Amino acid sequence: MREGAGEMSRERYAGADRLRDGFLAAGYTVDGVAARLGPVATAALARHETVPARRATASGDPLDTVVRLFLLQLPVDQKAATRALPLDVAVSLGVLYADGDEVHARLDVRPYGEDDITEPWWVVSDLGTGLDGSRRPLTAEHVLGVGGASTMLAQLTPRSAVGRTLDVGTGCGVQALHAGRHSDHVVGTDVSVRALQLAGLTAALSGVRLDLRPGDLLDPVRGETFDLVVSNPPFVVGAPAGATRHTNRDSGLPLDGVSARLAGAAPHHLTDGGTLVLLANWVLRDGEPWDERVAGWLPTHGVDVLAVQREVLDPAEYVATWLRDAGERGTAGYLERYDGWLAALEGDRVEGVGFGFLVVRRTGAERRLATLDWPHPVEQPLGPHLAAWLDRQRWLAAHQADDALAAATVTLAADVVQEQVGSPGAEDPEAVVLRQQVGLRRAFASDTATAALVGACDGRLTVGTLAAAVRQVLGDDGGGDGAEEGRDLLAQVRVLVEAGVLTPSV
Ligand SMILES: C[S@@+](CC[C@H](N)C(=O)[O-])C[C@H]1O[C@@H](n2cnc3c(N)ncnc32)[C@H](O)[C@@H]1O
Repeated sequence: MREGAGEMSRERYAGADRLRDGFLAAGYTVDGVAARLGPVATAALARHETVPARRATASGDPLDTVVRLFLLQLPVDQKAATRALPLDVAVSLGVLYADGDEVHARLDVRPYGEDDITEPWWVVSDLGTGLDGSRRPLTAEHVLGVGGASTMLAQLTPRSAVGRTLDVGTGCGVQALHAGRHSDHVVGTDVSVRALQLAGLTAALSGVRLDLRPGDLLDPVRGETFDLVVSNPPFVVGAPAGATRHTNRDSGLPLDGVSARLAGAAPHHLTDGGTLVLLANWVLRDGEPWDERVAGWLPTHGVDVLAVQREVLDPAEYVATWLRDAGERGTAGYLERYDGWLAALEGDRVEGVGFGFLVVRRTGAERRLATLDWPHPVEQPLGPHLAAWLDRQRWLAAHQADDALAAATVTLAADVVQEQVGSPGAEDPEAVVLRQQVGLRRAFASDTATAALVGACDGRLTVGTLAAAVRQVLGDDGGGDGAEEGRDLLAQVRVLVEAGVLTPSV
């Protein structure tokens, strides 16, 4: 924490440790809540239905009281609240307020954590809307809690030990919490001062030190570099003028401008070898391929990039999704806002919007860019696989020449299986597929020669030796076509190394 900010926040969050002790004493932890609610009420609450959880928290003990306050947004009587928590502290920190004999939650405070954490965390955000179908649109300054996109980014992020990490648009501070486990220093920026206040409380309750700075995108870190930069930015495309602007969703930049700006500028804030993980949206229009659009945003030199498109929504689905997300569906003026947003997208010739992520490593070398349209299920967390992907890119860069690749040894990854596709009873398969069981779980249709070579890659013989042996076994007579086949095999090896079907031997 920077000096001035540190002093201010110690004062602002005075007593947070007492509230934390209260949560611990009540058993208000991830495991404690899961055990109290049980799987049915937990699943119902995830669907915004509170009745099963109300039934599971009727005893009035401290844990029931805290769950009812923060997770069910129910008022509790003051005596029960005083038994459960240091009420004076919770009120002075602004998470609870008293109204007559009743106490209510002012903020959402919920336990959170990675599976193996020993020190529990609590994330502070604005109270969500929509419990039991209630209709209350989110305010423009609403600070979101941990949502689907937050979880996705947390799972995409490599977690090797680093010095400095930057979280752009830190919101409730969830990415910064994760980063704090493997970074010496974590900077979180946000244009919303209110978000930074809640992130500060998240950090204070969770016993984590964060350096929180107000400002637009990368302005607060001008001239600084980081080993890791993560961002789940306000990437939503073009709510039109006149629509409610939500700070957590709308950047105010035209179309996918915020994704473009971060993709272009954030790599310049990376140390050599540093990594950026960015969630992004991109518009699909005028027949422009999504990967060309994204490629145009990125630095033209000095980075390795993997850009993955996970989903494409048509304009109507897109608008309806974000209006629903903001609690606006079914509220007054919903149809007009839907119509206005759709018209704005139409005016901009937007035919669809792609959602995905970019992983960038600063290399200082010629740019290597891979793009992948991959809407299929993946194995989370992807972070370790993405880090390995980046490492293999460097290996491929060092083995660009055919001679270098032919002299190298590679190993078939343990998770890869071979599937044969064809009619039942047929003698020969119509196709052979190499399928990964982990990470992105990609699949590659493979010809006989490639499958034979891949099967023999155990890290002992060089790629060149194996390729020659395969060609011999399959009847290549050493003529001109054979040389071309050899090059084809090397090209296949490159594709499979990039994907991680084959891994460089150490
Ligand atoms: C989708 S939320 C992400 C919050 C959190 N990092 C997470 O992963 O859940 C986007 C965040 O970006 C912030 N934000 C919006 N515009 C910004 C800007 N121009 N500069 C910095 N932060 C901004 C919002 O206030 C919000 O906290």
